[in-house]
Amino acid sequence: MSTDVQRALRPNGPVVAIDGPAGAGKSTIAAHLARRFGLLNLETGAMYRAFALKASRTGADVDSEDALVALTLKTKIVLESTSQGNKVLLDGENVTDLLRRQEITAMASRVSVHGRVRSWMVAEQRAMGAQGGVVMEGRDIGTAVFPDAEVKIFLDASPEKRGERRFEQTADSSVVAEARETVIQEMRERDERDRNRAESPLRPAPDAVLVDSTSLTLDQVIAKIDAIVAPFLPESLPR
Ligand code: C5P
Repeated sequence: MSTDVQRALRPNGPVVAIDGPAGAGKSTIAAHLARRFGLLNLETGAMYRAFALKASRTGADVDSEDALVALTLKTKIVLESTSQGNKVLLDGENVTDLLRRQEITAMASRVSVHGRVRSWMVAEQRAMGAQGGVVMEGRDIGTAVFPDAEVKIFLDASPEKRGERRFEQTADSSVVAEARETVIQEMRERDERDRNRAESPLRPAPDAVLVDSTSLTLDQVIAKIDAIVAPFLPESLPR
């Protein structure tokens, strides 16, 4: 992220990249930024989840990169940014409500280790954000998708805090509530895989601003992040 304030380098405004592990609060913050500053909110994790769903439905071997690459050629994933979060269309079907299931979550992290699957995703994500005016959330946005993003934030929190938050989200959702320990254990495994994979492992870009939300309230995190993002918005966007 440049220390100089850059305005409107892209037609619709800046790219705001938000990366970090599961449960750090990325989705909440991205949704807030989208509302507050009129940005398009794009959750790239939902694309990996949708692709995992496709692999599951077609019986593709998630450990075979060749099989998954063949599947990418027959797959179209579209994210629609709505006030309720992202609507996800898989080959034209609205699959939004199917993507939070535990087995899809685990599969998303397995399909995402393959370099050629990631290259396909990255190309799609670059095309979606090229005009700017977006907040894009994921694991590799600041490092691989938009290394030239105007704003890069790496949102983190202690594993205990993240596990707790993730459990609350799961228990609140319409998905069957799983045992707390299972949710936390699954999150830890997914984190390990995301951090240790060879291709675009989860890590902060060298020029990202690190925000640790462990001991902050949501309002405090929002205040911090608003202050980071606001100077990069063109005058025409709401402040
Ligand atoms: O963000 P979310 O939890 O929905 O992401 C699901 C999984 O997709 C992550 O655990 C990670 O393995 C993968 N992912 C990724 N790169 C991204 C977004 C998600 O590898 N940019």
